[in-house]
Amino acid sequence: MSDFIAIAKLADIPPGAIKSFDVNGESVLIANWQGALFATQDLCTHDNGTLSDGALVDGAIECPRHGGRFSAQTGAATQMPAMFPIKTFPIKVEGENVLVAIE
Ligand code: FES
Repeated sequence: MSDFIAIAKLADIPPGAIKSFDVNGESVLIANWQGALFATQDLCTHDNGTLSDGALVDGAIECPRHGGRFSAQTGAATQMPAMFPIKTFPIKVEGENVLVAIE
């Protein structure tokens, strides 16, 4: 079982934002889509693009390298050339703190 770790303040991740955090050596992307927070790996499964340098489009994370997209909620690849999903992590808010759980 994983423990939740506080990694950011809620105010640091406003709606529309994508940010990257190092959590125990894992690059974790936090996205705020219309007030809902999602945590995923920050590495594209197509060719290792840094997803946090991309954009948030209709609830999907768009890779800056070739335009592949992934659902921020499920990690599923939703647009080519991305074919394989990215990892997602449990995320929650306690007060002003954003916490994620990394296995
Ligand atoms: S590296 Fe992300 S779409 Fe190619």
